[in-house]
Amino acid sequence: MGIPVVLDCDPGHDDAIAILLAAGDPALDLLGVTTVAANQTLEKVTLNARRVCTAAGITVPIAAGSAKPLLRPLRIADDIHGESGLDGPVFGPPTVPVVDEHAVELLHRLLPATVIATGALTNVALLLTRYPEDAERITEIVLMGGSTGRGNITPYAEANIHVDPEAAAIVFGSGVPVTMVGLNVTHQALVTPDVVARLEALGPLGRTCAELMVFFGETYRAMFGFAAPPLHDPVAVARVIDPTLVECVDAHVQVELTGTHTLGATVVDLDGYRGLAPNAKVAVGLDVDRFWDRVVGAIARLG
Ligand code: RIB
Ligand code: CA
Repeated sequence: MGIPVVLDCDPGHDDAIAILLAAGDPALDLLGVTTVAANQTLEKVTLNARRVCTAAGITVPIAAGSAKPLLRPLRIADDIHGESGLDGPVFGPPTVPVVDEHAVELLHRLLPATVIATGALTNVALLLTRYPEDAERITEIVLMGGSTGRGNITPYAEANIHVDPEAAAIVFGSGVPVTMVGLNVTHQALVTPDVVARLEALGPLGRTCAELMVFFGETYRAMFGFAAPPLHDPVAVARVIDPTLVECVDAHVQVELTGTHTLGATVVDLDGYRGLAPNAKVAVGLDVDRFWDRVVGAIARLG
């Protein structure tokens, strides 16, 4: 039996592959998928989660969560993920339903488990606020977000944290074991033409993933000048699958909430300047080849 996990996400091209990796790798037991508005509206990211699960024959419960950040207006990333939030391939009508409960209630019901968060942290912060006792029932929160270096939505803020910095501050301050997988590592997970070719060779599901990656690559090239797009979210899933895939160090992490120019930055004290006890494990390295082997292997198993 694999490690019980729940994936809170905002599909999103990289979230879509994260769902497939979490469902297809035998090291994990995916108990459910919850959605949060960030890459696109809640309606669109939830429809996209249903589309991905339908395409892959994944029948876990899907619950919709927060339609907006705790305090701030929603800022979507349609420039990267497109109008639908999952532009590229044409998906058939989804058959996997959405359960009639809020994501926070589904998360609460599915614990104890590891929570993997690959979107804004709004749902996770609400869970910890609504059910403080769940801090003891969450094995670990492994999140894609932040960076030990530069940002991708402002010079120093990464998108998932920047969308809802107050939620991120609650998570990092919760006392729950947190692992932060930031841009400094996910930018090593580049979807090269070789990776696309490996996906295409897998069959129908692999071809759908390849089409997703082609679109994702086009927007990332246009927006950021990347020759190949970084597949952020599956790296957080890979950390749970096999911690040796993603090297981490202990550090104190704080989220900037008042910075005029640095709102949403993750202030990662790698050198202990502030003398504060570490509150997170922070990713600093990725075994790229073994990472792609796990991703391709999981999709092969599903499709
Ligand atoms: O900054 C990258 C993160 O923002 C990823 O989770 C991507 O899906 C977007 O949500
Ligand atoms: Ca995401």
